[in-house]
Amino acid sequence: TTPETAPIERTLVLVKPDGVRRGLAGEVLRRVEAKGYTLVGVELVNAKEDLLARHYAEHVGKDFYQPLVDFMMSGPILAVVVEGQRVIEGFRSLAGATDGTLASPGTIRGDFARSWGSKVMQNIVHGSDSPESAAREIALWFPGL
Ligand code: TYD
Ligand code: MG
Repeated sequence: TTPETAPIERTLVLVKPDGVRRGLAGEVLRRVEAKGYTLVGVELVNAKEDLLARHYAEHVGKDFYQPLVDFMMSGPILAVVVEGQRVIEGFRSLAGATDGTLASPGTIRGDFARSWGSKVMQNIVHGSDSPESAAREIALWFPGL
């Protein structure tokens, strides 16, 4: 597929509580905009447990699930809907690997996170991983969009 004909997608980006606390929300938005993507929704959210349970439904029952939810409730989250051609894959590429220690330099996680093991959830950002996840997550965080 050439970029000219790639579908315009939307993805859900979250600047996690560690990213907001560290003053990296603007840096994340800057990278998204510099890449050429468009912001179509932005909101600072103090997420409740039921929203996070639905957001992370695929991880319910795993050992890291409750620590992850508790971390996501530790401070405000900047929730963002981003639009662009192949933006779902594109933002995952900007974000880098889940483990901040291993994430490539030049990526958001590679440049700003070094958490691993039980703190790997402190990796600055979330990005939807598929068109199905993006639709589901955008409906959760931005019911009006
Ligand atoms: P996952 O969806 O696998 O990663 P990603 O955010 O890259 O899509 O996991 C969701 C979050 O859960 C991840 O950002 C960090 C956290 N996590 C852990 O705390 N421990 C783990 O073993 C894994 C795989 C993830
Ligand atoms: Mg994921």
